[in-house]
Amino acid sequence: MNILLCSAEVTPFAKAGGLADMAASLSKDLAKLGHNVMLIMPKYGDIDTNAFKLENTGHTIGVPMGTWMEYCGLWRATLPGSKVTTYFIQSAEYFDREGIYGNPDGFGDNDRRYIFFSRAVFEIAKVLDFSPDIIHAHDYHTALTMPFLKIHYKSDPHFFKTAGVYTIHNMAFHGMFEPQQNMFLCGFGEFFNGSWFEYQGAMNFMKAGILFADKITTVSPTYAQEIRFTSAGEGLQSELNQRGPDVIGVLNGVDYSEWNPERDKLLPITYSKMYLGGKKENKRRYLAEHGVHEGELMQDLPMLGIVARLTDQKGIDLLEKTIEGFIQNGIIRFTMLGTGSKQYESYFQYLAAKYSTRSFVHIGYNNTISHRLIASCDFLLVPSKFEPCGLTQLYALKYGTIPIVRHTGGLADTIQEYDPASGKGNGIVFHQYSPEDFAGAIRRAVLLYNTQPHWNQIIQNAFGCDYSAKKCAERYTEVYAWALEKI
Ligand code: ADP
Ligand code: GLC
Repeated sequence: MNILLCSAEVTPFAKAGGLADMAASLSKDLAKLGHNVMLIMPKYGDIDTNAFKLENTGHTIGVPMGTWMEYCGLWRATLPGSKVTTYFIQSAEYFDREGIYGNPDGFGDNDRRYIFFSRAVFEIAKVLDFSPDIIHAHDYHTALTMPFLKIHYKSDPHFFKTAGVYTIHNMAFHGMFEPQQNMFLCGFGEFFNGSWFEYQGAMNFMKAGILFADKITTVSPTYAQEIRFTSAGEGLQSELNQRGPDVIGVLNGVDYSEWNPERDKLLPITYSKMYLGGKKENKRRYLAEHGVHEGELMQDLPMLGIVARLTDQKGIDLLEKTIEGFIQNGIIRFTMLGTGSKQYESYFQYLAAKYSTRSFVHIGYNNTISHRLIASCDFLLVPSKFEPCGLTQLYALKYGTIPIVRHTGGLADTIQEYDPASGKGNGIVFHQYSPEDFAGAIRRAVLLYNTQPHWNQIIQNAFGCDYSAKKCAERYTEVYAWALEKI
């Protein structure tokens, strides 16, 4: 199949979270399955053109906006570790600035930036003479490709046989904007109130994506249910239920060429399930780098870590209410890598300052540290309030690091509580979103760490899990076929 995949983030070019990893790993594995994949993203100002060998195609693309044309340049590079060509939309006005979305509140022109991106996708396909079987869009940023396909391009020979697949990574971000100007920029006509674009008086990009797509997917089977039947749908439950049979949960996969302790070039030492001494050595070095001396290392404490955007979604308030007691009492070591809310950042800085030999904090975004932290920890914390899929728990499993997760969304689909009676299970799971339940999970984790043969058993169980992107790509191939049946 010819698959045109468009995403606001793609690893390693530009990444804010898991969307970037998923867009890259899915593209790579679709290509490995024999599909012809074209990947399109914006050329943000801080993409390293030299490091990724971006080249200018020389094309200038005209993009209809309202009643006029705007123009963008087109660059190209190969997605590292694959043969997939990635195209980059160059626009001084919309993308040539620092950052992806603009933190903390988003750029004021994100509506216009992503309308332009979504419309440009079609014009690029035409200029490159690429006739897609599938346009696969992700999250609110590219949701408008779905109505553009059905309204503006359905009679264009390039898109006669094109189906639209829309993947929701996070219902919390609808993309709600002022309607009048945006409907005009999109050329969607006068009819707005009560239309498929309208939600509480605003133009809602995600709602339009859901209603115009041929198939809608989200990133885990449990989240697919949660968004239809609980408040996780963030107010779009009835639209999702209207599309009922077309809403499919497909679990994300991991790019094991990036995340594999046996070949990970970012680790001081590689290791495998057969060589756990290597994992211990990573931990020793991590601690030494953080000033923990040999004498203190005699005290064998489990290290619990977290890598996350510091937002309410990730359960950071639970950590705030829970973790200090364990650190204070010398029961665990704690480490984190993240950036986001200033309140959460200063809480972690407080922990680092107060418990300098047991609490290690990195505020910021750093890919190397994320790999080292996940390899060095004994447990990875994912206490999310909600979690559409979650990738860090899947990376942790591959590194023999045991996830401690709340039973929600993709965490519920991937992590099962270890059962000492049967020796089955790959993690520690708590259910209520409460400090008490979370603290109970940490206590169970510490006990397990100190109890053989169960500790070795759960680590082997973790290593035995397979959440490869290949499976995910195979499932999407089926979804694409179902979408094409609707054309
Ligand atoms: P989400 O997409 O909601 O942020 P995921 O678990 O799906 O959650 O994906 C998060 C991705 O972002 C993972 O690859 C994780 O390692 C990475 N990540 C998050 N915060 C940081 C950070 N501060 N530095 C490096 N990588 C990070
Ligand atoms: C979103 C979700 C996360 C998911 C990621 C990739 O950012 O918050 O749970 O893993 O997208 O699909």
